[in-house]
Amino acid sequence: MCGIIGYVGEPGSTDARSVVMQGLSSLEYRGYDSAGIALMNGHLEVYKAAGELSALEDRLESTPPESGAVGIGHTRWSTHGPPLEKNAHPHTDSEGRVAVVHNGIIENYQALRDELTASGIRFRSDTDTEVVPHLIGQYLEMGETPETAFRRAIGQLEGSYAIAAVFEDTETIYAARQDSPLVLGIGSGATYLASDVPAFIKHTNQVIYLEDGQFARLSAESVTVTDSAGNPVEMPVETVDWDPEAAGKSGYEHFMLKEINEQPAALRQCLRERVDELAGTVSCADLEGLETPGSVQFVACGTSYHAALFGAILLRERGIPAQAFLASEYVADRIPIDSETLVIGATQSGETADTMRALREANRAGATTLAVTNVVGSSAARACDHVFYIRAGPEIGVAATKTFASQQVALALIATHFDSGYDREIVRTLRDIPEQVQTVLDTSQARDIATEYEDAEAFFFIGRDYQYPVALEGALKMKEISYEHAEGFAAGELKHGPLALVTEETPVFAIVTGDGRDARKTVGNVKEVEARGAPVVAITDGRSDVERYADHVLAVPAAGKVGSAVIANVQLQLLAYWVANRLGRSIDKPRNLAKSVTVE
Ligand code: F6R
Repeated sequence: MCGIIGYVGEPGSTDARSVVMQGLSSLEYRGYDSAGIALMNGHLEVYKAAGELSALEDRLESTPPESGAVGIGHTRWSTHGPPLEKNAHPHTDSEGRVAVVHNGIIENYQALRDELTASGIRFRSDTDTEVVPHLIGQYLEMGETPETAFRRAIGQLEGSYAIAAVFEDTETIYAARQDSPLVLGIGSGATYLASDVPAFIKHTNQVIYLEDGQFARLSAESVTVTDSAGNPVEMPVETVDWDPEAAGKSGYEHFMLKEINEQPAALRQCLRERVDELAGTVSCADLEGLETPGSVQFVACGTSYHAALFGAILLRERGIPAQAFLASEYVADRIPIDSETLVIGATQSGETADTMRALREANRAGATTLAVTNVVGSSAARACDHVFYIRAGPEIGVAATKTFASQQVALALIATHFDSGYDREIVRTLRDIPEQVQTVLDTSQARDIATEYEDAEAFFFIGRDYQYPVALEGALKMKEISYEHAEGFAAGELKHGPLALVTEETPVFAIVTGDGRDARKTVGNVKEVEARGAPVVAITDGRSDVERYADHVLAVPAAGKVGSAVIANVQLQLLAYWVANRLGRSIDKPRNLAKSVTVE
């Protein structure tokens, strides 16, 4: 989704261009199709280009701008109008007095555009955003100050937005937020704003999370936050404990591979101070005051939905009725909700529009809400009654990897919080997971298997019970980064239709861990596949006899239920990564995908 960066340096400094461009490259992971910047150096200079940031760099090289102390930049993910240079942000008013960047959707833009057009304004783009600079321009015409013009224009908008504006001859940035993320950074002699912290973490870790309905005014020395009526609001300044190195690639070819390898550390971080090994108990301060619910509804999208399916299985196992819903399909009015209902929003970014809508509906319907998220101060964290941070650290690769593993473990902690009877067993299981993941990372043969099957017609993944969400996730990871056809199935469903797709050209990846009834049944499904000539790769801990029917094995250590699901998934992450790598795909920024999907 769109990314915003803004910078105000000391008067006379000339580093706006480099700070803004570097900020944009840190926001690339959010997904974009065009980019632009506006630099204020007495007058405003705007540069835009369709395509990758390198195209914008080329534009800047061919016309070196005068780089002042103030700038804003934007990576655009098209919603209104195709990814053309004219639609890239920043957008300006007709006189070039104000430049605006925007993330979100202005729902009443057509009515505003009609009014502005009727008053003689000529639009130069297809975007909803362009109404904003023109509205501001009209108020400037009336003699309003930049700040008042900005506030009055924002007051006319309906929809979701994070907006930043810079004016000619004014060393200040004005910003506002409604339902789209915006975080402010306070450095020494400089201030920043961005859609996400990595954009300016190199410069400062002191941040303010702007809230819905608030406005901000940034000058080199200070940040002022006001409410919609203009009253000053004292906002807490928070310290972000991500080190800048964590937002870099640390020698890995891709962020995705780095993040896969960071999983042991991420999981330790998730478990820290939440599991007492000596006492054999789980205790999560974040969940204090959250009673065992009568029932649980999960709302989530994509990879987080797979984590939610897994969480629902864990809760049902503990006797708590639980269901996972795709957030985009969730309608709170159609599902019984009472004061005993807990709605859990699983969302690594904490900003996914579908999940946010579902959580708001659940709030309105009277449910207790819990956000399970990676981003401190995110919209989900603030909208919910309770928040449980998964503490995976920054995830830059668009494909979610370490955040999924951390969600699995976080949901196991939450399930245990509701049913302490399982403590001893789960503490043992959880304690061992980071080491087991490390073993998989150190020994995985996924690269060889990827080489063997990179030309396959399609990839199928099967699993049962707690390995079913892992099969779905394995397929999603494969399709999103390799662009190859991949499907995940409940192992038992194969014979009810999908088996028709299985041929000698379609490897089937079967996740079979443990030696219980589920494993035995899945081995039966593997035999069905094998009988039809499909190559079989077993992801197994060797406790069943699946290896007899498999062409290859991706081995995982024997682990408890939660651990087996986490480590089997690590093999599938590596498989997807290496297939995509061998096919030369854009792994960290797959086509048509965004890290944080802030539109419904
Ligand atoms: C896939 C992926 C997406 C996200 C989905 C929800 O690798 O990353 O499917 O899982 O867009 O995102 P969050 O978790 O931020 O709500």
